[in-house]
Amino acid sequence: MLGTALLAASRNRRVRAAVTHSPVTRRVVRRFIAGDEVSAAVNTTRRLRSGGFAVTLDHLGEDTLDRAQAEATRDAYLTLISRLADQGLANASEASLKLSAMGQALPGDGETLAAANAHAICAAAADAGMTITLDMEDHTTVDSTLGILAELRKDQPSVGVALQAMLYRTEADCRDLATTGSRIRLVKGAYAEPKSVAHPAKSDVDLAYVRCLSILMAGLGYPMVATHDPRMIAIAQRLAEKHAKGPDDFEFQMLYGIRPSTQEQLRAQGSRMRIYVPYGDDWYGYFMRRLAERPANVTFLLRSLITR
Ligand code: FDA
Repeated sequence: MLGTALLAASRNRRVRAAVTHSPVTRRVVRRFIAGDEVSAAVNTTRRLRSGGFAVTLDHLGEDTLDRAQAEATRDAYLTLISRLADQGLANASEASLKLSAMGQALPGDGETLAAANAHAICAAAADAGMTITLDMEDHTTVDSTLGILAELRKDQPSVGVALQAMLYRTEADCRDLATTGSRIRLVKGAYAEPKSVAHPAKSDVDLAYVRCLSILMAGLGYPMVATHDPRMIAIAQRLAEKHAKGPDDFEFQMLYGIRPSTQEQLRAQGSRMRIYVPYGDDWYGYFMRRLAERPANVTFLLRSLITR
């Protein structure tokens, strides 16, 4: 209930203004976000990589309805890639893109614009030795995102995509996409979706996650197991063993600031552990989804407000 209310609030302009202008919120935000500037993303990458972690970087921003802003987001990624390359940190790093930030929802030629912006980023990333994964947004964007993925993969087969276990369609998408070398990030799904398209009960989402994971682990692609759920992690480890997938054949992914001790544990056990590092000043939508996932985060925020 609280989660649904927070996701609804994340679309409300007055709530957005109140949350983003509070200095206290900003302190809590720092737990989940590397910083506002590209330098913070680069420094966090250096720190995590020296600790043995892989990274995927997300320049925050979504739902762009302005062509200039979509192009500015593309340029922000190009700057990120070149800064990482200058510092010797690009190779084997990854960036995560939201196509809505690239202009996907613009009326008229939005999809074409998003594909062109993503294409420019994928080409620069490939030159620098980086990979790209497309984030998945709400269910209305899935067909468009998978269509753009197919286009991008013609030039860069390593481009990955996130699939959301909560959607009924995802098992079929996993089957279609578990092809040789195909990088698929399996997540539970962070958006408020109608029950016509998504499992309403969390227990059913978890069961769907296991079914999707079984398909991906049995397939020929490269599964990216993105979850903080210890049960899903244990099941992924068992499935990897069953299908003889070694540490180079799949990876775990978790969000920056969430369950760092589990991240460290998996890394120490020899698994590839990639941390999703968001940065930038447009953190509101991302932050509200993190609050919605876990009521304890709201308590943490409220406690900070009271004890400031
Ligand atoms: P679940 O929600 O069951 O949480 C399991 C446990 O993890 C909790 O009990 C808690 O201990 C911890 N936890 C989870 N969320 C937390 C939080 N916010 N704060 C503190 N602790 C928390 N979604 C999407 O729709 N599209 C996408 O592209 C992506 N991309 C993505 C990348 C990566 C690397 C990750 C890890 C996740 C995403 N997600 C996403 C988000 C995903 O859909 C999902 O909402 C969150 O990962 C939470 O689900 P869990 O699988 O962790 O399980």
